[in-house]
Amino acid sequence: MSGKGLALAVAALALLGPSAARPEGSAASPAAAEGAAAPGPAGEVAFDHQVHAGQFKMPCLDCHVYADKSPVAGLPSGRKCLGCHKFVKEDKEHPENTARIKVMLDRLDAGQPLRWVRVFAVPDFIYFSHRMHLAAKVDCRECHGDVATESVVRQDRPFTMGRCLKCHEERRASRECLACHK
Ligand code: HEC
Ligand code: HEC
Ligand code: HEC
Ligand code: HEC
Ligand code: HEC
Repeated sequence: MSGKGLALAVAALALLGPSAARPEGSAASPAAAEGAAAPGPAGEVAFDHQVHAGQFKMPCLDCHVYADKSPVAGLPSGRKCLGCHKFVKEDKEHPENTARIKVMLDRLDAGQPLRWVRVFAVPDFIYFSHRMHLAAKVDCRECHGDVATESVVRQDRPFTMGRCLKCHEERRASRECLACHK
């Protein structure tokens, strides 16, 4: 199963294309995330969930389109942002928001991908799949907190093994070592 999971993850990342994939690709360890975030353009483009998912009530799956079909949730490409921001170019009351939108539009005009700092990650030796958790009706909030109220996504508590097992016990999901350990 882990081989199949990995193949799916790789296929999903390939589908997402270079503009949407994390700089570190499928390497999900926190160390890899930090390493990739430092030199790259990560963090330059602002994105506010509280505005988009909160105020405007955009569904999570509109942007994280693979969450119900693959191990990874996926991130939107610049094209998704342009769908609105080729029209929404300024915020007359808040010049700082207009400036943030301009940073994004300038990058996309220059053909540069949008990249963001990775927040959540489990070590590479762990098999995790969004698809099976969504199929079991586990809400995003149970694992990620109330992202729709956050301007900057943060990890309130790390994904320790104890946290995975606690819910697996409550929900009668597998506690076999090999379910999660590749
Ligand atoms: C308009 C598109 C859009 C919508 C809608 C959206 N997101 Fe996001 N999401 C993003 C982008 C872009 C990022 C990367 C930037 C960041 O971390 O804020 C992201 C990052 C995240 C991350 C952190 C990923 C990581 O790095 O580990 C989580 C978790 C997340 N979103 C969950 C949600 C949830 C839950 C919802 C619904 C309540 C949601 N998102 C709605 C675009 C969106
Ligand atoms: C469904 C339409 C829609 C999509 C898709 C969308 N946005 Fe927005 N965005 C808006 C609206 C509406 C505003 C509010 C503008 C205002 O404040 O007047 C906004 C505001 C912003 C702002 C300024 C406000 C702030 O708090 O920083 C930034 C930056 C931004 N969006 C980035 C993005 C990025 C990056 C993406 C793609 C991941 C994206 N948006 C996708 C509609 C959208
Ligand atoms: C059972 C817990 C759980 C649920 C439910 C869950 N996630 Fe995640 N999510 C994780 C874990 C663990 C990671 C880190 C995975 C890794 O490192 O490979 C993650 C990573 C992510 C990421 C960044 C990497 C990626 O997969 O693209 C995004 C974006 C994300 N989740 C969004 C969502 C959204 C949106 C939902 C609801 C539709 C959701 N998640 C539901 C646990 C969960
Ligand atoms: C909030 C609850 C919750 C959390 C937290 C959670 N899971 Fe799960 N997990 C579930 C449920 C529910 C199922 C589905 C059980 C089913 O379909 O019978 C599941 C199924 C799984 C499966 C499939 C098991 C099998 O039957 O083969 C794996 C693998 C898995 N989870 C890994 C993880 C990992 C790794 C973490 C921590 C990073 C985690 N889960 C955190 C609720 C959770
Ligand atoms: C539901 C998923 C899940 C199950 C089942 C599970 N683990 Fe884990 N395990 C994790 C996660 C996630 C981590 C990484 C985070 C951490 O270290 O807490 C981890 C980490 C570990 C580590 C630390 C490895 C290191 O190098 O840091 C050991 C040892 C371990 N698990 C052993 C086991 C054993 C033995 C079993 C079976 C009795 C088991 N695990 C069952 C999810 C799981």
